[in-house]
Amino acid sequence: MISEDRAFTLLKRRIFLDRGLDCEQYKENYLKRRLAVRMRATGAPDYLEYLNTLKKNPEEYTELLNELTVNVTEFFRDPDVYRKLAQEIIPRMIESKAAFSSKALRIWSAGCASGEEPYSIAILIDSILDAAVDGWSVRVLGSDYDDSSLKTARAAKYTELQVPDYIDPERYFMISRKGSTTTYQVRDEITRNVRFERSNLLEYEERRRYDMVLCRNVLIYFGREVQKKLISSLVGSIIGDGYLVLGKSETVGPEGARLLKPLFPSERIYQKLVEKKRTAQGVADARSR
Ligand SMILES: C[S@@+](CC[C@H](N)C(=O)[O-])C[C@H]1O[C@@H](n2cnc3c(N)ncnc32)[C@H](O)[C@@H]1O
Repeated sequence: MISEDRAFTLLKRRIFLDRGLDCEQYKENYLKRRLAVRMRATGAPDYLEYLNTLKKNPEEYTELLNELTVNVTEFFRDPDVYRKLAQEIIPRMIESKAAFSSKALRIWSAGCASGEEPYSIAILIDSILDAAVDGWSVRVLGSDYDDSSLKTARAAKYTELQVPDYIDPERYFMISRKGSTTTYQVRDEITRNVRFERSNLLEYEERRRYDMVLCRNVLIYFGREVQKKLISSLVGSIIGDGYLVLGKSETVGPEGARLLKPLFPSERIYQKLVEKKRTAQGVADARSR
């Protein structure tokens, strides 16, 4: 008979092995409370029994993930990630594009839900770059397979509670009041750079390429084999040594580690590894060693 503590550890390990979901990202009490809800619903009296339920019935993962509220989204979700993007990644992207005389930034938010993520990234870029004045073209694509989420995303209307006040709402939203309802409509200068598309990530064929791909809180819905394929397809859609951003509880797995460098591991920001070309200078350098 194993202790509850040991069973809890085994359960977390099982979830990590099956879904790559790093349970350590959650506060222990929170995780235990959410697990308790699912254990009650499935009639599992303890962690070990719930672990067996997940093994026998993998669909239970969907319920568990919903319970952990990963199926929600928000503007600037995980502000520390956006801080890193603002301070480190976007300036690097701008610099490296400019070095190749390009003034085009292409970003893809894969699994964008109701649009908060692509709008957040468009707002962030706008706060760093005066694209219109400096002649840059910024395009953000949000894709999802859920029509009703995309409808909300395209409408670009949110509530006061959804919009954080640290981003200067008046600058990025048109605020209107009707009775007791206040609506925050993303301004045209942002929406004109953001496009939405319905597509299934699992049927994705590499067509377009992006400087940065955000695929946050989506991978964990899939088993390891599917995650592996998805990561390599996402990496294939990244231009040069561009960037991939995952959700805070997600991991790239051993396959991903061969394709990506963990640039800011705790923010889950990765850079694509590119094979160094054998330039004439490189060969000469190697010969002179
Ligand atoms: C938890 S939300 C993540 C939203 C946003 N990326 C974030 O981190 O806040 C996950 C989204 O992935 C979408 N999704 C799940 N499987 C998908 C698939 N196979 N193709 C496209 N979108 C998918 C869901 O519809 C949902 O909107």
